[in-house]
Amino acid sequence: MRIIVTGTYEEMSKKAATLVASQVNLKPNSILGLATGGTPVGMYRELVKMYQEDEVDFSGVKTFNLDEYYPIDKTNDQSYYYYMKDNLFNHVNIDEENINIPNGKAKDIETECYEYDKNIYNSGGIDLQVLGIGTNGHIGFNEPDVTFESGTHKVTLDDETIKANSRFFDSIEEVPKEAISMGMKTIMQSKKIVLLANGEAKAKIIEKMLFGEISPNVPASILQLHPHVIVILDKEAAKYIE
Ligand code: F6R
Repeated sequence: MRIIVTGTYEEMSKKAATLVASQVNLKPNSILGLATGGTPVGMYRELVKMYQEDEVDFSGVKTFNLDEYYPIDKTNDQSYYYYMKDNLFNHVNIDEENINIPNGKAKDIETECYEYDKNIYNSGGIDLQVLGIGTNGHIGFNEPDVTFESGTHKVTLDDETIKANSRFFDSIEEVPKEAISMGMKTIMQSKKIVLLANGEAKAKIIEKMLFGEISPNVPASILQLHPHVIVILDKEAAKYIE
């Protein structure tokens, strides 16, 4: 694992955007795995800026998002579909047909999950997966558990996740209780992974992820076994590892 500690959220975001843009420039038909949440907003902002300055071209890129709430309609401004449009897709030249986000309104969840994984596999697998991390160690919405769940699946969100995500909603009651998430096997099969974390609230879990026991109780700890992970932190998130 390579660990990069930056001074600020802005620096972390710029580093991450540069990595993603380099991936796309080196392989214009890259398959990108994307995350939502507060952490990557700055990275998306930087990528939009780079696109506007002709430093990156998304026309050949295909994307697969990690997760989506369930149930939720994509027109809902709390959906991750809406988030991705708002933060990135509406502002760059990505082809709508190349955007993949789990369908938060899927009637047949099992088929939706199976098809999502099949689509990733048939596309050649994810070249670069961007991850955030929950304060409980989740990646995607793979919550702490007794086993690692492998493929895309429906999850029940932990109370800690619901509480953390309630900051984006008017009230905690509005936060969906379930989601569809890529599984650990799908994430681990990505050729490269970039995990971002900022702020003191993430400091303890970052230490556990990097140096603790590998256990489904801290889902992100499995990244210790991945051959190509870059962790980009701001100073606060790196508090216990420096
Ligand atoms: C989002 C996702 C989650 C978040 C994590 C951190 O697509 O998969 O694992 O990355 O919950 O969220 P923030 O960035 O809001 O702290």
